[in-house]
Formats: sequence, C-alpha cells, structure tokens
Amino acid sequence: MHDTLLLFGATGDLAQRYLFPSLLHLLRDRLLPADFRVVAIARSEHDDESFRGWLRERLGDDYDAAALDELLHRVRYVPVDLSDPDAMARTLAPFADRPAVSYLSTPPNLFASACRGLKAAGLLEPPSRLVLEKPIGHDLASAREIDATLKAALDESRIFRIDHYLGKAPVQNLLALRLGNTLFEAVWERRWIESVDIIVAETAGVDGREGYYADYGALRDMVQNHMLQLLALIAMEPPAAMDPDAIRDEKRKVLRALRPMAPSAAEADSIRGRYRDGVVDGRAVQGFGHRDDVETFVGLRAWIDNWRWAGVPFRLVTGKRMPSRTTEVVVTFKPVTHWLFGADERKRARANQLRVRLQPEETIELGLMGSLAASEWSANELQPMSLDLAMLPPKRRIAYERLMIDALKGDQTLFVRDDEVEAAWRWIDSVSEAWRQAGTPVRDYPAGSWGPPEAIPFLPRTLTTHNGRKS
Ligand code: BG6
Repeated sequence: MHDTLLLFGATGDLAQRYLFPSLLHLLRDRLLPADFRVVAIARSEHDDESFRGWLRERLGDDYDAAALDELLHRVRYVPVDLSDPDAMARTLAPFADRPAVSYLSTPPNLFASACRGLKAAGLLEPPSRLVLEKPIGHDLASAREIDATLKAALDESRIFRIDHYLGKAPVQNLLALRLGNTLFEAVWERRWIESVDIIVAETAGVDGREGYYADYGALRDMVQNHMLQLLALIAMEPPAAMDPDAIRDEKRKVLRALRPMAPSAAEADSIRGRYRDGVVDGRAVQGFGHRDDVETFVGLRAWIDNWRWAGVPFRLVTGKRMPSRTTEVVVTFKPVTHWLFGADERKRARANQLRVRLQPEETIELGLMGSLAASEWSANELQPMSLDLAMLPPKRRIAYERLMIDALKGDQTLFVRDDEVEAAWRWIDSVSEAWRQAGTPVRDYPAGSWGPPEAIPFLPRTLTTHNGRKS
C-alpha cells in the first residue's frame, strides 16, 4: 500500500466535505499504513501550521479528537500553482522519495498542466499513481484530449478515475444481489423485466457552483458519470471473474450498446427542466437564474440495443431542488403470464419490484404479492407485500473512504477506465446534439417539486415525498 497522498485542491469544497473526513475515519479505524502522510496542495498561501489551524476549524468538533490530531500531525501544506509545471516540479520533487498517489480534486482544465508538473517532479514514475475527479472533459473530444495528456505521462494501469457512486456500499450490493442469487440471475433480462428506473433526486441546489454548472448542466454533471455507471452495473453481462478489467470490459460493452439519441426521439425520450423560486424543506429558495439553456433536471429514456435488454426502457431521472433526497434503483418485473385471481385482486396487484435505495437510507426491498394467512382472509385474496432485505451495516461510510484505500492499494475495480468514459461521452454527446437539433426546451419547475409536469412519465411510481405520493 502506498503511504504518500498528494491532495490537490486541498482547500476546495470536496476536500473539506468528504476527502479529509474520509481520511479521519480511516485513521480512526487504523486502516492507513503506519507511515502515512498527506501533502495538501492548493494555491492559497498557508504554511503547515496555518493550514492545520484552518483545517481544524473547517472540520469542526464532529470528529474523534485523537484521529483529528493525528491527521493534522501527518499533514503538510505546499502552496503551488498548477498552471505552472516548472514551479510544481521544483516544489514537489522532494515528495517523490516514496511511491505516491496524487489526487487531482481540481477543475479538469488544470489536469493537463498538473500532469506535466507531476511528471517533471518525478511523481508519476512507476509505481506512483494518479487519481482524477470527474468531470473528465466536457464532451468526447475534450475527454480524449485529456486522456492523451494523461497517457503521455503514465499508463492506464496507474490512472484512477473516481466516480464516487462506485464507492457507495449499496452500489456494491447491487452487484452482490444481481450476481450472487440464482433467483435474479434467472430473470435478469427483457423477458421478465419491464423497466428499470434510476433516480437521483437532491434537495440541494446549484448553490456556489454556478460557474461550473452553467457549462455542464444535469446531463453532464450527473448522467454522464454516476447514472451511467449505475446503469452499466445493472445491465452488464456477468463478468467471468471479479477482476477490474473483466468488470470494466462488461460495463464498456453496455455503454456502447446504448442507442444514440436521434433528434426525432428527443421529445419522447427526454425532458429538461430548470428550477425556479420555490420552497424546499419549508424554506424559500431562489431559482437557478444563471443561464436559460442549462438544465438542473433531466429525465431520459435510454435503450440498450442488445440481446438482453431489447425493448426495456431504462428511465434516468436526476434533479436539483426536488422535494426529497432520494436515490434509488427500481427494477420492475413484468406481470405474471396468466392471472388466476379475481378482478379486485387484479386492481390491487402490483408488479414485482426490486427497489434498492442508496439515499437517504440504504435499503433493499422486494415487492411481491401474497395472501395474508389470517382466518378472515381467504387464501386467494392477494395483497402487495414487501420483503425488506436491508442489512444494517456496522457503520455507514463515506464513499471516498473505500476509494482512497483502493487507490492506495492499487485496486482499480471501482474506478472508471478510459474506454468507459469515452463510451459514456459518446452517448451523452448524442443526447445534447439531439436536443440542439430538436430545439428541446428547458422547462421551468418550482423548487420543491418533482420537475416540470411533463416529467411525470419519467418518474418511478414508488417515488414519495415527505408527505405522501409524488406531486
Ligand atoms: C457530484 C455532482 O458528482 O455528485 C453534484 O457534481 C452532486 O452536483 C453530487 O450534488 C451528488 O452526490 P451524492 O453522493 O450526494 O448523491
């Protein structure tokens, strides 16, 4: 396991909210190597002491005091301008004394020069590794450019592209459920599955990231990465082995089988929205007014043109300023072939569903039909029943904890490979081009609603608000 982590973007939001807290948890649980050290890197002019003070203040009192002291003791701070490779080489060369993991939690426009600086500092020599945050580019062409720069500095086996959704425990559980159970193995295809819903709804708005978001929108910020990764894990063929490349080969195949969106399909298969002023969690919030042609909500019907999934819609929905934070995958099975029960039961009947919730709680539910065996019910009176398969994890972890450990160990299973990124962008580019040609409007929705009214056909039926059914 490597024991040097160079954290670029150390004063940024992600580092404060997730990366340093993850390190704290890993230190508390004694999961990091004995000589572990962190080199925090950003532009601000701090020295070690002032950075430690700043970090202590930012992290607040929520953490184990001993772990916090230990983290601060292991942190050094180096101010560096990433757009200046020569300066990087000079300042960072002393840290190339041990194999390192350099983690670029920075905007993608700095990846190329940062890579040149790291290379010149000797920090990308084998077996050192590079971790990159999303987004990798803005479209296929820019992603390829970034990739060419990376490849000039190190090979794919040492490049770790983070998608933090892959570090979430329930996402790994999806794989376990799918691939570890005969019951699901047998029905995981178009003959038995009617549709798949993937929804990532957030109550948060774009707040504070308007500049970035105005260039990306929900399609590029969420669908290109997190949602397509979920889709790929659900839809891929079972890999022959649980090794990184076997899994990533299968994910890539599915992403490549996504039918490019034609302009003529844009109206039926997509919807874009943008939140306006409204109320979320009882609080009045302002609309996203930064740009008129950028969506903060997107609904898509994706089609995978292969043997397993022909004709099965995958509905992908994500939005900001929704009524509740809800991230879930819902697999809806087809109705039984022949209905033996009465007309009333038929009305009550619900399709079998597998519902995996990632947020706010981590739960797994299997919706079945059954009959209550109490005496007042006859055996034929069917009722929807729900089998709760959730296992309570000993402690809920930040997704980045797992990913940091894997990067330090060199396990690429939960990281995204170059060809997956390309395949995902190829499809996303087809959607944005279809929108452009079809003139797909960005429709308004009040903050605190489930998107524009036209979004209803894209939403899973299981969706609930704090106070009941979807509005
Ligand atoms: C990030 C997006 O990748 O994921 C954010 O840039 C989004 O816009 C976030 O809020 C959602 O992650 P999570 O883990 O909170 O669902």
